[in-house]
Amino acid sequence: MANRVTLIPGDGIGPEVTEAAQRAIAATGVALAWDRQDAGYETWEREGDPLPRRVIESIRESRVALKGPTKTPVGGFRPINMPLRSEFDLFAGIRPCRAYPGVPTRHPETDIVVVRMTHEDLYAGVEFGRRDGATAELRQFIARTHGTELPGDSAITIKWLSGGACRRVVRRAFAYASEHGRRRVTAVHKANVMKESDGVFLEAAQEVAAEHPDIEFDDRRVDSLCCELVMRPDEFDVLVMPVFYGDFVSDLGAGLVGGLGMAPGVNLGDDCAVFEAVHGTAPKHAGRNRANPFALMLSGVMMLRHLGEPDAADRLEQAIVEVVREGRAVTYDLTPSRDVQSAAGTSEAANAVIEKALT
Ligand code: NAI
Repeated sequence: MANRVTLIPGDGIGPEVTEAAQRAIAATGVALAWDRQDAGYETWEREGDPLPRRVIESIRESRVALKGPTKTPVGGFRPINMPLRSEFDLFAGIRPCRAYPGVPTRHPETDIVVVRMTHEDLYAGVEFGRRDGATAELRQFIARTHGTELPGDSAITIKWLSGGACRRVVRRAFAYASEHGRRRVTAVHKANVMKESDGVFLEAAQEVAAEHPDIEFDDRRVDSLCCELVMRPDEFDVLVMPVFYGDFVSDLGAGLVGGLGMAPGVNLGDDCAVFEAVHGTAPKHAGRNRANPFALMLSGVMMLRHLGEPDAADRLEQAIVEVVREGRAVTYDLTPSRDVQSAAGTSEAANAVIEKALT
């Protein structure tokens, strides 16, 4: 029976790149039973909920989704990825950054994988607004217990890291390294400043590393890692870190391999996976047949491997690699001039991949 996959087109460029990815996946010959489910900003406008129950139920049944980016209004509802991560316990974000021949980069040897926690840390949404009564109480509590007086007009965002959640994501990073023949895992933190919370992460990483003597382990402060990455990315392999650092380091990694149009990813749990590109809805390109569909197609490659379809995955990846290497049917972001008028559009780039995947 065909694997069932929930398809969430999303907002902005989402529908264009998901359509391109779906067509490219079909060209590999693999049979999937797609269940299309709208979610995101436009769904919120139409249905009053950006993540309706039907979407959750579809993923609960399929356990696998391919998701386009979804718009989050500033000051509005929380990104739908947050409830998705907690509903399905998607505790690890895995974002490979590999420079395929032909992409615009100063570091063609880059081949790193960012593994980031998705639970806990600064993005968990535990926030106290400037005018909340609870914030005043919290300020008083901090003054009493810590001796630090916070200004009366401050808002507070809580960062916390637990040993259990840190060990779990670091174990996932080591498992990824073993499964993919990677030689080294680097834990990324700022434990010299945030001795308590990042200290928990570093200690957990060292504990888990001791269980894996076959894989090299070291650690870096996030600031010095960023400097080293832009100078010598080839010295790194698998990088594991809390979500906040992972947000920046994975975009930095995308920049090293040709940009956001080449950066795939997955939010992974023990029995559920939501595959999506690192990029957002790119509103200025939406509906204009300009966006690069390869990041979502490469997320599709990861999904095919996850579904136990390695031949289809290899076929699709190889087709993308060839189109990028030839450089004729690529979108503006992969061209030297970055000129949108003379570059291929989303559908032409997708057609070129499909032609290669079919032959
Ligand atoms: P963005 O990733 O949409 O755009 C950043 C820059 O990269 C822009 O210059 C854009 O044109 C370019 N870009 C992104 N993807 C591209 C592609 N496939 N091909 C060519 N160029 C591409 O990030 P931004 O502007 O910060 O966010 C826009 C919206 O997307 C926001 O509402 C944000 O909340 C949402 N977002 C959603 C994500 C998700 O659903 N996973 C992830 C990141 C942002």
